[in-house]
Amino acid sequence: MSEPILTLTDVVVAFDALRAVDGVSLTVPRGQRRAIIGPNGAGKTTLFNAIAGAVPPTSGKIMFNGHDVTKMPPHRRAQLGISRTFQITNLFPTLTVRDNMVLALRGLSPRKFSLFGAPDTDETEAARIAAALTAARIGERADVIVKEMSYGEQRQLEIAISLVTTPTMLLLDEPAAGLSPSERSMIAEVIRSLSRDITVVLIEHDMDLALGLVDYVTCMFEGRVLVEEPPEGIRRNTQVQEVYLGKPRHA
Ligand SMILES: Nc1ncnc2c1ncn2[C@@H]1O[C@H](COP(=O)(O)OP(=O)(O)OP(=O)(O)O)[C@@H](O)[C@H]1O
Ligand SMILES: [Mg+2]
Repeated sequence: MSEPILTLTDVVVAFDALRAVDGVSLTVPRGQRRAIIGPNGAGKTTLFNAIAGAVPPTSGKIMFNGHDVTKMPPHRRAQLGISRTFQITNLFPTLTVRDNMVLALRGLSPRKFSLFGAPDTDETEAARIAAALTAARIGERADVIVKEMSYGEQRQLEIAISLVTTPTMLLLDEPAAGLSPSERSMIAEVIRSLSRDITVVLIEHDMDLALGLVDYVTCMFEGRVLVEEPPEGIRRNTQVQEVYLGKPRHA
């Protein structure tokens, strides 16, 4: 088997006395779809922050695609192919879909952008943007102002923004949070049809959605890995039921 794309060894992220991530070791094979589940406060987003470089691990080691990224700044990890979306949308609402894509592709802020004036995309840029929008199923929406889109489409745009940077690994933090059932199905379809060249790790509270999309599940609790299993076993796992499905622990 090929070398895993992501390996965490005993990763700790401490905020003062709180160990939000408390000694996590996990391995994600190349091309896998992995769900990270667990109750609120389990440390899922903090784990993503550690992988993407938004917070430095207090200790432990993170290897990505053969590189030790433990102490690497976020932009260098992005260059290596780590791309993430956020639990809360992170778009520029008064700009068009296309302009949001151009900014992401060029790694610019709207302020720097306005200094350069209207976007003059070259053919390569335009083709990459079109491909990413199509993959996210909003290929017809390039000229729409973001705030005019439905919330579901905005979440699709976030995925498109991640895709345009041609990631090796996509970290999706609750991509379906706050969506209607039909919007959820759309996001699921987008994720399901992503190229297997991209490894996908997603945090998701909606069990049906998560388990229907992934090859393998990691359940976190109190900063630690509680259980790792294929989706078939997760629902029946009593430890997961106790912490995640809301059964009282000491009933
Ligand atoms: N920057 C921070 N400073 C201090 N504490 C933090 C910080 N970020 C997260 N925490 C704490 O770390 C713990 C884990 O938070 P985290 O956001 O990683 O959980 P989560 O599993 O993503 O939860 P949710 O499902 O609610 O999104 C929580 O107790 C949270 O309050
Ligand atoms: Mg979170």
